[in-house]
Amino acid sequence: MQTSKVVLVTGASSGFGRETVSLLSQSGFRVFGTSRKPSGSETRAGVEMVQLDIDSDESVSRCVNTVQEKAGHVDVLVNNAGYVLTGGIEETSIEEAKAQFETNFFGAVRMTKAVLPTMRKRGSGQIVNISSLVAVLPVPFEGYYAAAKAALLAYSEALRHEVKSLGVKVSVCRARVLPYQSCTN
Ligand SMILES: NC(=O)c1ccc[n+]([C@@H]2O[C@H](COP(=O)([O-])OP(=O)(O)OC[C@H]3O[C@@H](n4cnc5c(N)ncnc54)[C@H](OP(=O)(O)O)[C@@H]3O)[C@@H](O)[C@H]2O)c1
Repeated sequence: MQTSKVVLVTGASSGFGRETVSLLSQSGFRVFGTSRKPSGSETRAGVEMVQLDIDSDESVSRCVNTVQEKAGHVDVLVNNAGYVLTGGIEETSIEEAKAQFETNFFGAVRMTKAVLPTMRKRGSGQIVNISSLVAVLPVPFEGYYAAAKAALLAYSEALRHEVKSLGVKVSVCRARVLPYQSCTN
């Protein structure tokens, strides 16, 4: 009997993440989505919502353990959660800039570190990182957002080569409007 692939999508309470979990669930995947404050109304048919704050090591560990206990493993991790810090570079405080990197870069790093040991053991897995077009074409007043997305892009390209021999694939998506249509694998 063929079992459904297990997909974990961070930031599934709205936007791309919300659309992605619905689409994956309709396509027959076993889908886990996350939110910092999952509520009953966010739990849609076929999508199991799990609490997650990607800024926190403890929350990341709890979330991945929960999914692995329920489903055995994670086949695909989609690092989608993030936010846009707008504002001029000169006016942005170091704290605000660090917070942007904490979520948009280190959040994906934390999640990746949490799923990789099991993917390595199984000899398979896929990590999909949602970057942005501004990673390669930065725009004014989104400088730190662009910098964090550029960091994610570079990290993903390096990681791809590091884990290829383990059977783990890494994709990174960059387009602004339709991110999944501009991925490098
Ligand atoms: N919209 C665009 O035009 C565009 C273009 C290129 C790339 N992107 C990227 O695509 C991704 C999704 O964008 P979107 O526009 O769909 O965003 P969105 O609607 O604002 O959704 C962001 C999601 O991220 C989650 N999130 C934010 N901070 C979090 C944290 N610290 N821990 C855990 N979850 C967190 C939110 O969940 P909770 O608040 O429920 O926790 C929410 O589900 C982002 O990475 C964004 O940078 C967007």
